Amino acid sequence: MKRVIYISHRQASTTNEDIDDIVKVAKQINGANHIKGVLISLPEHFYQVLEGPVSAISEVMGRIVKDHRHHSVKVFSEESIPGYQFAKWTMVHYEVDEEFTDYYYLLSRFATNPNYEDSYIKGIKMMLLGLS
Ligand SMILES: Cc1cc2nc3c(=O)[nH]c(=O)nc-3n(C[C@H](O)[C@H](O)[C@H](O)COP(=O)(O)O)c2cc1C
Repeated sequence: MKRVIYISHRQASTTNEDIDDIVKVAKQINGANHIKGVLISLPEHFYQVLEGPVSAISEVMGRIVKDHRHHSVKVFSEESIPGYQFAKWTMVHYEVDEEFTDYYYLLSRFATNPNYEDSYIKGIKMMLLGLS
C-alpha cells in the first residue's frame, strides 16, 4: 500500500462541470481498484491524496499526470503505508474558494484518525505558499 500526495495547476479552461466529471469517473475507477482519495480544488490548483495498492496507484497516477484538465503535477509525498487513513472515501471532493487556507485542518476532517498529524500534511500550506 502506498499514499501519494500531489499538487497541480488547474487549467484555466477547467470548469466546475469538468470537476464533477472527474469525481464521477474517479469514484468508479477508484472504487474498483481499492483506491481511496481526497481531491481539494482551489481556484488555481488541485491538491489530491491517493491511497491504495502500489500497482493501482501507479496506474491511476500515470493517467492523471497526462490529463489536460490540469498541468505541472508535482508529487511531493510518496510513501508506503500500513493502512488507509482516508478509508471512507473512494473519492471525496472539497471545493475551496481561496488559494491559501488551512489544508491540514481540511484533510483532518476526512481522515480516519482525527488526530492525524503527519508532518507532510502540516507542510502543505508552506509548500503552496512557495508555488508561483
Ligand atoms: C485533478 C484530477 C484528479 C483526478 N483524480 C482521479 C482519481 O482519483 N481516479 C481516477 O481514476 N481518475 C482521476 N482523474 C481522471 C484521470 O485523469 C482519467 O481521466 C480517468 O482515470 C479516466 O481515464 P481515461 O480518460 O484514460 O479513461 C483525475 C483527473 C484530474 C485532472
